Amino acid sequence: MNRDSEDREVSQLPGSQRKPPSHVSLPDSSWRSRFRSRLRRWYAKHARDLPWRRNRDPYLVWISEIMLQQTQVAAVEPYFLRFRAAFPTIKALAAADEQDVLRHWEGLGYYRRARQLHAAAKVLVDEHRGRFPDDPEAVRALPGIGRYTAGAILSIAFDAREPILEANTIRLFCRLLTYRGQPASSEAQRLLWAMAEAMLPRRRVGTFNQALMELGSQVCTPKAPKCDQCPVATLCEAKRFGLQDAVPALKPKKKFEEVHEVALIVRRRGRVLLLRRPEGGRWAGLWDFPRYEMDHEVEPVLFRRLRDMLRTQTGIDAVPESHQKRLKHGVTRFRITLDCYSARFVASGKPPADAPEWKWVTPGQMAEHPLSTTGRKLAALVR
Ligand code: ADE
Repeated sequence: MNRDSEDREVSQLPGSQRKPPSHVSLPDSSWRSRFRSRLRRWYAKHARDLPWRRNRDPYLVWISEIMLQQTQVAAVEPYFLRFRAAFPTIKALAAADEQDVLRHWEGLGYYRRARQLHAAAKVLVDEHRGRFPDDPEAVRALPGIGRYTAGAILSIAFDAREPILEANTIRLFCRLLTYRGQPASSEAQRLLWAMAEAMLPRRRVGTFNQALMELGSQVCTPKAPKCDQCPVATLCEAKRFGLQDAVPALKPKKKFEEVHEVALIVRRRGRVLLLRRPEGGRWAGLWDFPRYEMDHEVEPVLFRRLRDMLRTQTGIDAVPESHQKRLKHGVTRFRITLDCYSARFVASGKPPADAPEWKWVTPGQMAEHPLSTTGRKLAALVR
């Protein structure tokens, strides 16, 4: 397309002039209909063949959308396939043991998603006869389902005329509109949800929403977007002004918190001690080696403190012996340095009333327990 027609197309965005608009309004209907037909044609040719796109079973759409929250498609694929095989229906998921659900989630992160999925499956069995509802209010009332996920499930599984907004479409819309503010601001969220709604076609809404995400993730990438392959480049204001790198605005830099922890591998006759992680914290409900947040102390003070902490927490007495490994791990805003020590079991005393659940397991049994990410690395060390 030549430069003239390019200019004509973008200039039909209300408020567009030669310089980027200071305030942004939504595109008109002729722009929207050109956008839709080009996107559809492009998606028909370029859609990836992903396992959750092969049918529209609402249960499987739901699982995939929960897994895809804050997680890349490539990481999700194997988890989705294993999860579907283990829990093929809502009823199977509702009847499963939470530990088993967590084990199938291990390594995917954000474990609250798995627990909420499990809780929601029980609600579906108790209140919806084991079927996934097509009523938006009922869907939004389920644990773990927010506005985006409800829109994605309802549109993809039932073709409901519901908008979606997630990282890929936020970036795409910000560029189409040259929105220069912070995408997370409430002003931006209002504008972008209104855009998502205004763009919706009357039919095949689920395909359209997936096409938006596909274009965002495959073409309108965060760095070096592939504008030469973009079916809607001539409709894009950021492209017109050469502002693809400046839009969307970067998030303010995350402040990391450094945390130092010490873990104990306590051995007793071929078994090691695992504790269940408490509610409300990182890796809640998963198993882990006893671990404690600590300043960088040195032996023998460190060993004395570790012995006291384990005894206070569980009533178990064990003597720390030697440093095994240092692991570094990042979770959300924490940068964790974990020093791991072996320890020899001495005796069991009376546990306090609020002691966590614990178990002595053989190295072989560790595979059956959902472990924290660093816990799994230490488990490999135990073997
Ligand atoms: N990200 C979130 N949902 C998605 C979907 N259905 N397809 C591809 N990427 C996605």
